[in-house]
Amino acid sequence: MTPFTRPPGYTRIKVVDSFHELITTPFGSSFNAFCWKRKLPGNFSEVVEHLGASDGITTVEDSRLLALPMSAAGRVAIEALLIDQRLLRDHGLAPVLDCIHCYPRDEDPGPVATDVYSFHADSATVEADTYLCTYHGAPSEGLHNDEAQRRVDIPETRAELLKLFGGDDNDDFREYLKENCYSLHYAPVPQAQPFCFGLGNLWRIAIDYPGSSVPPCIHRAPETVPGQPPRLLLIC
Ligand SMILES: [Fe+2]
Repeated sequence: MTPFTRPPGYTRIKVVDSFHELITTPFGSSFNAFCWKRKLPGNFSEVVEHLGASDGITTVEDSRLLALPMSAAGRVAIEALLIDQRLLRDHGLAPVLDCIHCYPRDEDPGPVATDVYSFHADSATVEADTYLCTYHGAPSEGLHNDEAQRRVDIPETRAELLKLFGGDDNDDFREYLKENCYSLHYAPVPQAQPFCFGLGNLWRIAIDYPGSSVPPCIHRAPETVPGQPPRLLLIC
């Protein structure tokens, strides 16, 4: 498993030392991702094993976690999961803990796939951030902003989208790209070196919203491979 190491020379990520610093540091004009780097104690594999098989995403409630028959190391992991959720809830957020075997895929992606396996920016209509932490399984992946190109800006892709839209490249077309989330998806440039969010680190990343002062943090879910351990992911 690749741990997170700050990509050399890339200045948009700041590593922080506490939850307080994670939630209070402003993105400002440079940073668009904060990483509270941690080595969490506990056996998260045991938690995932007890959650059992599924062919999609299972949201895990606190009550279910507390009812799992665990060894001491498994209980330590559960305590860590509950503490993170408590911290975020106390901050007015609504974290969700998911055990992920597989995400839904874009069935008929057309020129631009819009599922979470594609590099994308999260978005909202008002100021907001995304928090996420992978505790187990393959961690999320990030892409430097200067190694990313919006798929809708690639001439061949834009031409295909225009054909689908059936009109001119005008405000209505740009609205169509937005409504269908096409404008939120990015292609890595040929020499791009995506980075790994690592396990146990709690991230706060910038998203796309009107008036944001920084470009959004581009990220994706790793490929899910049948037979590989599921991911345990906190998100809000
Ligand atoms: Fe996302």
